[in-house]
Amino acid sequence: MYIGIDLGTSELKALLLDEQHRVLATAGEPLVVQRPQALWSEQDPQAWWQALDAVMLKLRAAEPAAMARVQGMGLSGQMHGAVLLDARQQVLRPCVLWNDGRSADQCARLSVALPALSQITGNLAMPGFTAPKLLWVQDNEPDVFARTRLVLLPKDWLRLQLTGEAVSEMSDAAGTLWLDTGRRDWSDAALKACGMDRSQMPRLVEGSAPSATLHTQLAQRWDMPAGVVVAGGAGDNAASAVGMGLVDEGQGFVSLGTSGVIFVSGRAFRPNPAQALHAFCHALPQRWHQMSVMLSAASAITWAARQLGFANEAELLQSASTLGPEQRAQAPLFAPYLSGERSPHNNAHACASWTGLRAAHERADLAYAVAEGVALGLRDGWLSFGPHTGAHSLSLVGGGSRSAWWAQLISSALHMPLTLHQDSAHGAALGAARLGWLACGADEHSVCLGSPVLQTLEPASDALGLMEERHTRFAAVYPALHPN
Ligand code: XUL
Repeated sequence: MYIGIDLGTSELKALLLDEQHRVLATAGEPLVVQRPQALWSEQDPQAWWQALDAVMLKLRAAEPAAMARVQGMGLSGQMHGAVLLDARQQVLRPCVLWNDGRSADQCARLSVALPALSQITGNLAMPGFTAPKLLWVQDNEPDVFARTRLVLLPKDWLRLQLTGEAVSEMSDAAGTLWLDTGRRDWSDAALKACGMDRSQMPRLVEGSAPSATLHTQLAQRWDMPAGVVVAGGAGDNAASAVGMGLVDEGQGFVSLGTSGVIFVSGRAFRPNPAQALHAFCHALPQRWHQMSVMLSAASAITWAARQLGFANEAELLQSASTLGPEQRAQAPLFAPYLSGERSPHNNAHACASWTGLRAAHERADLAYAVAEGVALGLRDGWLSFGPHTGAHSLSLVGGGSRSAWWAQLISSALHMPLTLHQDSAHGAALGAARLGWLACGADEHSVCLGSPVLQTLEPASDALGLMEERHTRFAAVYPALHPN
């Protein structure tokens, strides 16, 4: 029996998995994000801990016999957040999250201070990543910076509470900008450029390796046996890939959550920082992955549904789907940068817009533009991978995958078949449980199975010409809005 925990941004989820690959129980607790200033995004780690305790108690109540037989657990989580701890391992300030945009100036400074940064880490300095956040703290909260003895990623702070050990693993560590991603070790040069050193970093393990053992008092509280192994785990995207069995060369997914992610696994480290493509370690040894990240995907649909007076996202997408080819050709364009953008623009200050509005346009045209704008933004991300990904299809996951119409539009935008899978909703929590299983000694081929395909969406051949033309016009909007 294995437990997977996924510390998301809006929810903490846990799942109980048996050795026949059956999910016996799931539990979730909502989380809120604090936005005390423009561009800021923070959470209090104590809220994560309360949520974790609550979901464990729910699993215990639902499956007491299974809980008594748990051998391993895995942790997955939102990436890049900085939890700063003092010498007594007390949290010094709220965690600055992955979608926080305050540190653009520090990114510029970091790139000048260490010109080899992208060669070492494989990534461009982007405000979402951890390193520039520490430079921001150094500039704006020098007292907090001076007292910082340890920096942990969100799920690794949960591990500290669960086990007493400060440990991270390669996939999440790669998102700090302090990892030599090809060598899978901390980079002294990258740390030094932020006024830090290795003593402030956790120990590193592979995601599928044991990291520590669950505290006995917690095992007792949740009616679990002594000696439960906690695996390294993974950042949420790598964990989702493990949950879907996408761990080999050319296997990948498109995720339509708050952010829009395209993820492709590989056997080699292939950085392309010029396009703001992310190149991180995978959760399994000697595996890496590339990833493009857009910051507003399903969240752009949620925003537009509210502003346009639709009851929910499904109603907006339904309305958008009613446009015929003529109306689509004439529809306004939507630049989807409601929260700035990472791939390919790396601009925390980028903003969204509808352009090309006419008096004849109605709410459905605006709705179509938003759904299409997210698809075209994903296409920009996909183009930044270049032609040699080895991918022949991508799995589609996340809340946004519930609309077949939108999924088909995205398939056309990417020129790539998209597959919908059974049980894909378990995503990162399932991947985390599988990593717990691997850390107990199981073998990758019996654990990292793919999940059955429910439906394949092919690019609509009659839509491709129009999509090309709309993409050319879409691509001209960003430089017009953000000159230089
Ligand atoms: C990846 C990223 C997001 C978060 C969301 O680079 O920032 O996908 O991990 O949880």
